Amino acid sequence: MTISVLSVASEAVPLIKTGGLADVVGALPAAVAPHGVAMTTMVPGYPAVMRAIGKGAGKGRTIHSYPSLMGEPARLITAKLGDHPLVVLDAPGFFAREGGPYADPAGHDWADNWRRFAAFGRAAADLAGGGTKRRPFDILHAHDWQAAMAPAYLRFAPSDAAHIPATVMTIHNIAFQGYFGAGIFPQLGLPDAAWSMHGVEYHGGVGFLKAGLEAASAITTVSPRYAAEILDPHYGMGLQGVILARENRVHGIVNGIDTMIWNPESDPYIAAPYGLRTLDRRIADKRALETEFGLEPGDGPLFVAISRLTWQKGMDVLPEILDHLAGLGGRLALLGAGEAAIESGLHAAAARHPGRIGIRIGYDEPLAHRMQAGGDAILVPSRFEPCGLTQLYALAYGCVPVVARTGGLADTVIDANIAAIAAGTATGIQFDGIDYHALRSAISRTVALYHQPDLWRTIQRNGMKCDFSWGRSGAAYAGLYARLLSEKS
Ligand code: ADP
Ligand code: GLC
Repeated sequence: MTISVLSVASEAVPLIKTGGLADVVGALPAAVAPHGVAMTTMVPGYPAVMRAIGKGAGKGRTIHSYPSLMGEPARLITAKLGDHPLVVLDAPGFFAREGGPYADPAGHDWADNWRRFAAFGRAAADLAGGGTKRRPFDILHAHDWQAAMAPAYLRFAPSDAAHIPATVMTIHNIAFQGYFGAGIFPQLGLPDAAWSMHGVEYHGGVGFLKAGLEAASAITTVSPRYAAEILDPHYGMGLQGVILARENRVHGIVNGIDTMIWNPESDPYIAAPYGLRTLDRRIADKRALETEFGLEPGDGPLFVAISRLTWQKGMDVLPEILDHLAGLGGRLALLGAGEAAIESGLHAAAARHPGRIGIRIGYDEPLAHRMQAGGDAILVPSRFEPCGLTQLYALAYGCVPVVARTGGLADTVIDANIAAIAAGTATGIQFDGIDYHALRSAISRTVALYHQPDLWRTIQRNGMKCDFSWGRSGAAYAGLYARLLSEKS
């Protein structure tokens, strides 16, 4: 029997991406397909999405029209996400604006975000529950707060009571919760019963993610360690009680990587493709990267960082550590965008170390590939990390990850301590705490390991041999869907 799943998210590669969520949502349909799951993805009709589906094979067909969806005309149109079906919520009043998916060009959140993503959730609930001409789905799988109202609508205001699919709520990042004032409640189209501790009410306002967590049949996080961490107030960010109350419904399933897109043997963006047996060719990628960033060649390791420049990612600590890094003969190529204060700290460090520190501000997908191929080590000093994908890409590319011991970083990198080196299992460097001293000693350790070429090569190879493709995680999601269906029948 094939299980039909509607995967609902605000981002999906290759249509629209601001972070790892898009990579995961884009890869999920192919990951679950071998396990008897037919997945349709649903995304908002941002300009980039409408432009992409306006071209080629995926030209949209309207399957449902709303004269007014939370105050705006809207329609659901079908298209393709790679080889898999896609439904787009075309609602120009909500989504046809230049800027980011969540913020205007100046970086301020859109004031009507609650209405935009309530409408998105409402439409997803209608589509999954049989409120449109399309056959209902067995499962609705919502990702993050932007999709979290879909399970809540199915629970409190289903459009077709004859079919209510089982629901999965995946937390990619609990720091983003979709919290709004109580004044929006009457406009959500929910019955009074939804205004409760086990509904959408959260600290006197409306919590979208909270509502999804309460309503969903199952909750998943994107790594097992993060599932345990968010029971702690430090990581749960207010939602730890909600998670604890539903602990037996929480599953940690680590993200995979799309090996069609992230494979150093066939990556079209890199200067010199290479693999496990041809690691020597990687030097050409390193030289190309040095040239691209205007760095002088040197004997020390070339560090890279590819990251949102935010507190979560520990990027505020990076500038102060760069004198130490350069002092040890290291160099750094950094690509990122985010907070202005972090950007200026990085620029100042680069000015102190010309030819050693290169900074690129912006978002550049091909460059991210070239950095994984050319860097010796990648710095990921996150304060918390639900899964993290850059360290997984790094492992596949032989770029040794230097990571904070948290969340998915702790789950996926094996620290090169004495025991792991002796056992031949080390894949990277882990460190505790995000501060100057922790980072300083992690960088010192990395430089010391780099100067033992045989050991370094073993660590690179161990990482490249790891299997972080979607195989196991695709099976885990499919198993969860099947269990939820059997519970219902
Ligand atoms: P998060 O989603 O929290 O930002 P992840 O590690 O899960 O963290 O995913 C980040 C994704 O975004 C990766 O695919 C990474 O390569 C990409 N990325 C982050 N910053 C940039 C950038 N400035 N340019 C290109 N890609 C970036
Ligand atoms: C979020 C998390 C990141 C995770 C990604 C995909 O953006 O911050 O750790 O890898 O989602 O699940």
